[in-house]
Amino acid sequence: MEESLLEIKDLEVSFFNNSGETKAIRGVSFDVKQGEILGLVGESGSGKSVTSLSIMKLIKGTGRITKGKIIYRGENLLNKSEKEMMKIRGNDIAMIFQDPMTSLNPVFTVGNQISDVIRRHQGLSKSEAKEKTIEMLRMVGIPSPEERYNNYPHEFSGGMRQRAIIAMALSCEPDLLIADEPTTALDVTIQAQILELLMDLKEKLSTSIILITHDLGVVANTCTRVIVMYGGLIMEEGKVEDIFYAPLHPYTKGLLQSLPKRDGGEKERLIPIKGNPPNLAAEIKGCPFAERCPYVMDICGEEPKYYYEGKDHRAMCWLLDKSISEKGEHNE
Ligand SMILES: Nc1ncnc2c1ncn2[C@@H]1O[C@H](COP(=O)(O)OP(=O)(O)OP(=O)(O)O)[C@@H](O)[C@H]1O
Ligand code: SF4
Ligand SMILES: [Mg+2]
Repeated sequence: MEESLLEIKDLEVSFFNNSGETKAIRGVSFDVKQGEILGLVGESGSGKSVTSLSIMKLIKGTGRITKGKIIYRGENLLNKSEKEMMKIRGNDIAMIFQDPMTSLNPVFTVGNQISDVIRRHQGLSKSEAKEKTIEMLRMVGIPSPEERYNNYPHEFSGGMRQRAIIAMALSCEPDLLIADEPTTALDVTIQAQILELLMDLKEKLSTSIILITHDLGVVANTCTRVIVMYGGLIMEEGKVEDIFYAPLHPYTKGLLQSLPKRDGGEKERLIPIKGNPPNLAAEIKGCPFAERCPYVMDICGEEPKYYYEGKDHRAMCWLLDKSISEKGEHNE
């Protein structure tokens, strides 16, 4: 049986300001299995980054985890002190942040920054850490890593910077890597190379990866399972083939229709999902997708529960309730 490395249970996260509460994550549960690449997709604002920052306990400012558990290797991270979390970050769980420039300090060389992380976490000597850094830079495909070790971040290209960040994240061999849009800023060729690299590293080091992206195409080529988020909730979860060939949720179907085809064949018309995501600062009653859903029914004013097609495929939509869909047909 596949073992879970991380279990997120009923997570809720809110941001508070003078005008009230923004409920960014509204009850999210999922697990990450040993050695898998799990895709986390959804439009902007659906809660992908807040979910991943919660796992690292890095929700800052006015944000707070208001409910839930984050169980890593049997222990709830939400009960850990900041000191304990600092040990876990990097050593056990590493993150590639959405904004890569926040991850590299412009005033230190790339090599020094990576070897500092290695020394801090692994207690190696200066020369051992340098050696390991060069090995990591080589592994992520930086040419002439001995020379590149002494470069500053601005002397690297965008793709090389991203590789260096991946090298830094992987340098302590974490069990779980959270990669938040690791390729968004890069051109398509480099994007493909970076994704290839992540898949290679997963094979070599059997790291579990949560891959966050807007792009379902990226997920199709990389992931084993997929979670589709919308309005701070999981709309659908399943194996990659379930999501692509037998999607259950109207939102997932909408995302698939808006997916550009990359096979170079006849140009298909992309159909974007009309309308905007819900305002999370206001109370959301019922299905969060109702305003944009072509199948909306009266019952959608109540929040749907999850319906399962098989053990691993679930979606939150009233259309999957047999008694309701049969009644609907009957009424027509
Ligand atoms: N620091 C913050 N203060 C207030 N609200 C926030 C803050 N960070 C995130 N939010 C809100 O939480 C919700 C989820 O944001 P999140 O960054 O997780 O979205 P996302 O899915 O990662 O989007 P994107 O694809 O644009 O990165 C959004 O509605 C956002 O406005
Ligand atoms: S619950 Fe209703 S509104 Fe929501 S996705 Fe299903 S049919 Fe559409
Ligand atoms: Mg984000």
